Amino acid sequence: MPRTIYFDYNATTPLDADVCAATLPFLTANWGNPSSVHHVGRKPRALLDDARDRAAKFLGAKPSEIIFTSGGTEANNLAIFGTARALKAKGKHLITSAIEHHAGLHCFDYLEKHEGFSVTRLPVNSEGRISVDDLEKAIRPDTTFVSVMAANNEIGTLQPVAEIGAVCEERKIIFHTDAVQMFGKETFDNIGQFRADLVSICAHKFYGPKGAGLLYIKSPLHPDPILFGGGHENERRAGTENLPAIIGLVAALEKCVQPPVFDKIKFKPLVEKLISCVEKIPGCELVSPRENCLANTVAFTVRGSDGIALMAGLDMEGICASSGSACSAGSLEPSHVILAIGKKESANSLVRFSFGRDSTMEEVDFVCNILPEIIRRAQLHR
Ligand SMILES: Cc1ncc(COP(=O)(O)O)c(C=O)c1O
Repeated sequence: MPRTIYFDYNATTPLDADVCAATLPFLTANWGNPSSVHHVGRKPRALLDDARDRAAKFLGAKPSEIIFTSGGTEANNLAIFGTARALKAKGKHLITSAIEHHAGLHCFDYLEKHEGFSVTRLPVNSEGRISVDDLEKAIRPDTTFVSVMAANNEIGTLQPVAEIGAVCEERKIIFHTDAVQMFGKETFDNIGQFRADLVSICAHKFYGPKGAGLLYIKSPLHPDPILFGGGHENERRAGTENLPAIIGLVAALEKCVQPPVFDKIKFKPLVEKLISCVEKIPGCELVSPRENCLANTVAFTVRGSDGIALMAGLDMEGICASSGSACSAGSLEPSHVILAIGKKESANSLVRFSFGRDSTMEEVDFVCNILPEIIRRAQLHR
């Protein structure tokens, strides 16, 4: 078996050792249900309240503005379904972008298909960026809600989120941003920097545990719940809280977000080396923007080949990459992001390398040495 080179940190990261240590007592000693009134439940309740206070303090929010969720998917679902439904008496027009993660896009598809909403999906330019002008033009009297991601998971494009937020604020439209890929990678000061009413965050993208996330909801906004049952999370998200995951999320926020655990300065030479290698390979075309892009992400397409052959070829050499969002890996579905940037003919052949804390130049050199041959074989295979 060849050595493992993991260049897929946008899919997930390993658990940080300190975060793991913070989490473990909640899998063993502190196992009570925070909703129980007896003494076994009271300690986990106090620790849950404390975790919410810490998350709020870190983000610059009020504790009541934090809803713990099972991750980015649930945070997006709650933001989109919950807000669209809560505001439907005011209007049923929603705006998003064509390159959102499926955890956002599929919510809009559902609302359009089954609940009578009308959805505008803003186009993007060749770098995957929306235009704020297009957003302004798309706004209608019945527009209630806009959702645009902060950073794209497939190609790394950063969106002008604060500008979008300012437009929405002025037009009294609720704005949500999926910031799942941005936390731990870009500078974070305060939740106010997004100028958003709702922000989705997910722990396993910055060395926290899987199955842990949160939705920031600016008060007094009150999205309709999407989970029903007990009165957890202030009646906004039913279900016994996953305390180990919540503690891990908060520990990862405190340790890995500011300064960002993904170190831009360290990545610069790695990214430069990889890009210069990719640009020399016949048929390869870089699709990640050179500026205003996540500093750890290099995505390119490969003419005359497809994602499955490319991933298999890389994997045989021990190299972990992605052909789009991890959720569509294994299927031959073309990347909706590459389609949206207008490269229909290469939408099946995306390769995404995403670096993390442990990535080294030596690994990049190894990949650069064998990449031309892996790509040549994948092109022949087709
Ligand atoms: C931008 C973005 N949003 C949402 C998600 C969903 O997060 P999860 O699958 O952890 O719920 C992901 C995961 O890849 C993502 O990259």
